[in-house]
Amino acid sequence: MTSIPLKGKPHDEILDNMQSFRSQDADFLTGRTWSLVYHLSQEHDAFLKKAHNLYFSENALNPMAFKSLKRFEHEVVKMAADLLNGDNSVVGTMTSGGTESCLLPVMAYRELARSKKRWRKLRPEMIAPESVHVAWEKAARYFNVKMVSIPLKADFTVDVDILKMKMNKNTILIVASAPSYPHGVIDPIEEIGQIACEKHIPFHVDSCLGGFFLPFMEQIGYLIPPFDFRCKGVTSISADIHKYGFGAKGASVLLYKNMAYLKHQFFIHQNWPGGIFASPALLGTRPGGPIAAAWAAMNAIGLTGYQQMAKNVMATTERLTNGINAIQGLKILGKPQMSVFAYGSTDPLIDIFAVGDVMENKGWHIDRLQRPEGLHAMVTPAHETVADQYLKDLKNALEFVKNHPELASKGNAAMYGMIANVPFRGLIKKQIQKMMEKMYGADGEMPMDNSGKASLPVRFGTGILKWLSKKKSSNG
Ligand SMILES: Cc1ncc(COP(=O)(O)O)c(C=O)c1O
Repeated sequence: MTSIPLKGKPHDEILDNMQSFRSQDADFLTGRTWSLVYHLSQEHDAFLKKAHNLYFSENALNPMAFKSLKRFEHEVVKMAADLLNGDNSVVGTMTSGGTESCLLPVMAYRELARSKKRWRKLRPEMIAPESVHVAWEKAARYFNVKMVSIPLKADFTVDVDILKMKMNKNTILIVASAPSYPHGVIDPIEEIGQIACEKHIPFHVDSCLGGFFLPFMEQIGYLIPPFDFRCKGVTSISADIHKYGFGAKGASVLLYKNMAYLKHQFFIHQNWPGGIFASPALLGTRPGGPIAAAWAAMNAIGLTGYQQMAKNVMATTERLTNGINAIQGLKILGKPQMSVFAYGSTDPLIDIFAVGDVMENKGWHIDRLQRPEGLHAMVTPAHETVADQYLKDLKNALEFVKNHPELASKGNAAMYGMIANVPFRGLIKKQIQKMMEKMYGADGEMPMDNSGKASLPVRFGTGILKWLSKKKSSNG
């Protein structure tokens, strides 16, 4: 049993302990992770922390009490709307991150549909590509909306012909990505927007990844297909400031074309004994730090700073993708349009998950994809100095796997392969459910790393797979 210590401990002792606990955490500062942390520079982090700290205690739940936070939120929304080519009627709120920016539109558009009398018998459905971020599945489940998943074409963009066929009178929302998390490709937003417009169905563009990157690419001369409010039919867009906006964690912006949509997001309860309650987004208490840091980041980096960042990150991305394509036996999946990409094996003798394992043994934290199998990377400024080493290690890893084909049937690779391909998806879900119950159970069991030591997962999904692999080997 763990209890609060009877007597408080000295601050130094606590902080020293915390520092030592970090020793097993992913090392993002040296570019070893390819997701989770978007790090611009030490100097920027130091500045963000100051901005965040200034608003360490403040609560944006009550904009009347903390007017400065309301001002920051308003200006962040306005700056994002301008960046994404919205007009003056674009409105929005900040949220705690990409997931909240996916949850809220589903609820808001369901409420919008319900507000129309003809929708009284509504069985709400939403349409989204198979590649859409999993947060939308979460939203569908939380808000009791049926998810209609649309298959992808060979280029990993959504098949619009099928999407069209799946629309019906229950469709409350269409979602598409700019770009998608798995393959970094932009769905045909203009074409979908046209359809959404004709059928009067709201259309959300999930630009959590690209909202603070694609516009800067365009500004420095890349040809980017229109994906924002310039496209007819787009009614809302999400863009994460805590990703390529380089704000502090806990900051995304959710924009709607006008108040006719946003108003369905608000929660108001006038009869609560605790007082009349009104909240614009999901959270009750809204930490001031991420809002303040988002505003500070956008003002500090400025358009030219973001353009320079996009230029540098794209140079690194091109170095990596060209380098990977040049390795015989590997191929980038599809044609990624920004700094997020995946690659797979073109050689039946090379198991891509075994390559991932070898890379992990060399100290890289690798994210895996399934259907099709691949390894994934999101490039940030931290990768500029390690890209060549990554390519070198990858080339060697491939050679190693070629010479050790047994690796494909061992350890994590076997488990990843099994999990990706096992036809009974319910079984996988059941195993993961059990693992979650252990992890969040009374003993708080941690997923294991390769050495069998308890460790925090590199990425939660990766941790689950490792735990399963450990379980399998301990079961014999
Ligand atoms: C396209 C997209 N949407 C939504 C999310 C969810 O964002 P978060 O992890 O901030 O909740 C992500 C995260 O990577 C994403 O890539």
